[in-house]
Amino acid sequence: MVKVVVQFTCSECGATTGRWLGRCPGCGAFGTLVEELHGAEGRPASGAARPPERLGDVQVADAARLETGVPELDRVLGGGLVPASLVLVGGEPGVGKSTLLLSALGSIARSGRSALLVTGEESVAQVRLRADRLGGADDVSILAETELESVCATLERERPAVCVIDSVQTLYAGELGSAPGSVAQVREAASRLLRVAKGSGVATILVGHVTKDGAVAGPRVLEHLVDCVLQFEGDRYHAHRVLRAVKNRFGSTNELGVFEMTSAGLVGVPDPSALFGATQSGEVGAAVAVALEGTRPILLEIQALVSRTDLAMPRRVGTGVDPKRLAMIVAVLARHAGVPLGTADVFVNVAGGVRIDEPGADLGIALAIASAAKGLPVREGAVAFGEIGLTGRLRPASQSDRRSEECRKFGSTLVLGPKLDTLRRALGAGLAENPA
Ligand SMILES: Nc1ncnc2c1ncn2[C@@H]1O[C@H](COP(=O)(O)OP(=O)(O)OP(=O)(O)O)[C@@H](O)[C@H]1O
Ligand SMILES: [Mg+2]
Repeated sequence: MVKVVVQFTCSECGATTGRWLGRCPGCGAFGTLVEELHGAEGRPASGAARPPERLGDVQVADAARLETGVPELDRVLGGGLVPASLVLVGGEPGVGKSTLLLSALGSIARSGRSALLVTGEESVAQVRLRADRLGGADDVSILAETELESVCATLERERPAVCVIDSVQTLYAGELGSAPGSVAQVREAASRLLRVAKGSGVATILVGHVTKDGAVAGPRVLEHLVDCVLQFEGDRYHAHRVLRAVKNRFGSTNELGVFEMTSAGLVGVPDPSALFGATQSGEVGAAVAVALEGTRPILLEIQALVSRTDLAMPRRVGTGVDPKRLAMIVAVLARHAGVPLGTADVFVNVAGGVRIDEPGADLGIALAIASAAKGLPVREGAVAFGEIGLTGRLRPASQSDRRSEECRKFGSTLVLGPKLDTLRRALGAGLAENPA
């Protein structure tokens, strides 16, 4: 019998000790020692040389993607689940991770493939209640288990096509002394499940909780292990949720899926532009931007508020907008477009809890701020896109044609784009002449 040894490894320098220490004896860093298992599995089976294969000769058994039956989820995954892959779904408590994955498992089971849900957080009866609410999940197999060893053994025996572990933080390996959810436990669980997923061909989805600052709890190391990291975002107090891929080994990242939470579960929103891009006509401080999310252009309403302040350092607060980008847009507006904002607080908000992280939405943000500052509404039917340069000139945004097409699709009559050349001209064309 191989003795399993627990040892502590420094995450900075890799030094190992037999017991936990507050300070690493190798590099002197504090609090970096993490519990690890060393035993039979850690050691290579034999040191014999093996012949490498020619890549072209590698046999691919079945590379077809598994469609989950939830179109928005398939889109974010890049066309469906890849067999034997490991996917991490992160999100804040109550955002709807369990709901989304149960409906996906339900439709996978309905299409005749085996689907297993391992629940560590909720009892079997609680999941049944949710299943009744969602409907159509009767064929999903369920296992209430938190012991890592039995979960892996079950997966190897049952070999379901898809397995969801809800959540990875509840699994524990008995050999490790630390509590479930600790870095060592989660890392051990993920790496063992990875071996099972690859070995038995089970597409495994791990649910992971998100800490206050938005990182998938504890182990960033998990993000390197898995094939795909999906982030489920949204306000618990609003019905809309956004699913995005942060990392995807089999598809594009920044792909976006939009859902609405209803009493019958999460319903995909196939056309988010209609939902997020609508403004009240004649409203001051609101503009519509076309942002590109992955391969998909989306119309987003941007709202801005400019109010006089006596603060020495006026505030620039953005929700859904990068603060550095916002500060730059405010500075360019003041310097090159004659919109003085030096004694004003500027607040910007993006509709629907969507986060913009591409510069193509700059002009839309600038237009909303200028509208709020001047008290002039944006012209009816105007939609803006284009990156703003530091000199006040507009730079071409990527995929201009697709953005223009999306604007036309939604009946916009005035597309403000990089063709207008400067920010000053774009504002002149976009703002109405008279206050509403
Ligand atoms: N009957 C209902 N009608 C509408 N929405 C509901 C209903 N029941 C639950 N919800 C929504 O479902 C959400 C909880 O979903 P779910 O349990 O899937 O979240 P979760 O991300 O798995 O949470 P946790 O991290 O706690 O496991 C609630 O925030 C609520 O908005
Ligand atoms: Mg849950």
